[in-house]
Amino acid sequence: MGALKIILGVILAVVALLKLYIKSITRMCKSQVCLEGKIAVVTGANTGIGYETALDFAKRGAKVILACRNKSKAEEARRKIIQETQNEKIFVRIVDMASFDSVRKFAKEMEETEDHIDILVNNAGAYALEKKRTVDGHPLLMQVNYFSSFLLTNLVLDLLKKSTAGRIVNVSSMAGKRADQFDINKIDEFAPNNSDYAFTKLCNILFTIELAKKLRGTKVTTYSLHPGFIETDIFNNITGLRKLLFIIIIKLFSITCEEGAQTNIYCSVAKGIEKYNGEHFSCCERVEPYKTASDPELPQKLWEKTEKLVFKHKNPF
Ligand SMILES: NC(=O)c1ccc[n+]([C@@H]2O[C@H](COP(=O)([O-])OP(=O)(O)OC[C@H]3O[C@@H](n4cnc5c(N)ncnc54)[C@H](OP(=O)(O)O)[C@@H]3O)[C@@H](O)[C@H]2O)c1
Repeated sequence: MGALKIILGVILAVVALLKLYIKSITRMCKSQVCLEGKIAVVTGANTGIGYETALDFAKRGAKVILACRNKSKAEEARRKIIQETQNEKIFVRIVDMASFDSVRKFAKEMEETEDHIDILVNNAGAYALEKKRTVDGHPLLMQVNYFSSFLLTNLVLDLLKKSTAGRIVNVSSMAGKRADQFDINKIDEFAPNNSDYAFTKLCNILFTIELAKKLRGTKVTTYSLHPGFIETDIFNNITGLRKLLFIIIIKLFSITCEEGAQTNIYCSVAKGIEKYNGEHFSCCERVEPYKTASDPELPQKLWEKTEKLVFKHKNPF
């Protein structure tokens, strides 16, 4: 009985210390930048950290495009944002990241309705999806988390270049660190050992590195980031024992959606970070690149491979 009490005490102490540590590294974006007159696009803005990011931009006075797949969820998010901020410049546009046609349609609508874009947050993402192929023939998770952001970014790049200081923010994850079996030649296949999510998130980082190189000489910069471990709907699809484990870990160690949105916001609005074009952020600061993203040739190789897979016509670059 005594031994059990000691073990329980140790566990509780470790949990408390870990929680204190997470609290201590969680930072809020302190930037006071006003976004009046700016246009921001946030994919997956109806819930989770995408919603909180859009809400923050609305508070700063931006015109915000909620780029979502589900009209009624998006309209509800729009209603809540307008109610909370009194900013009426909030608009819903439908995009399903599992379909290139939908991404193309969205980009075309943006071209027809907006004369520029100041901020694009490629936030939409999923975690544990069924291993199936999309209508375009690609692994679903890879297309939702990476291929479609690649396509969307390229299609609206001219609009971003019309901004006085465009920013492209790619929401990745520290899961990208686990992508040590990543194989550039297999990005159009299902990954081994439950690594699908990690591979897609490494792709977000490598894409950002190469995009930054291609953007040199323009007024547009780009950043990738890990937002933290946040209790959101993204883990809803997990099943079995893993689900139980996740629930315990989430309840103990996750941060709130508002906290989780802070690095999205920081990379979108903070002044003076342009010198970190292409780099990775966490907790509202630049962090060292992950080992899995350190091969200097990988970003360009991935770009070329992705381009072939997603573009049927010439790349804007
Ligand atoms: N939560 C975390 O701990 C964590 C950690 C690291 C990185 N991230 C990243 O953070 C980003 C946001 O995730 P979250 O945690 O805020 O999750 P979330 O609450 O589930 O939000 C994900 C958003 O993406 C949208 N989405 C999913 N599939 C889509 C599709 N096919 N087309 C268009 N939109 C789609 C969702 O729309 P519906 O509502 O219609 O499903 C939702 O709006 C993701 O890129 C994720 O990888 C999250």
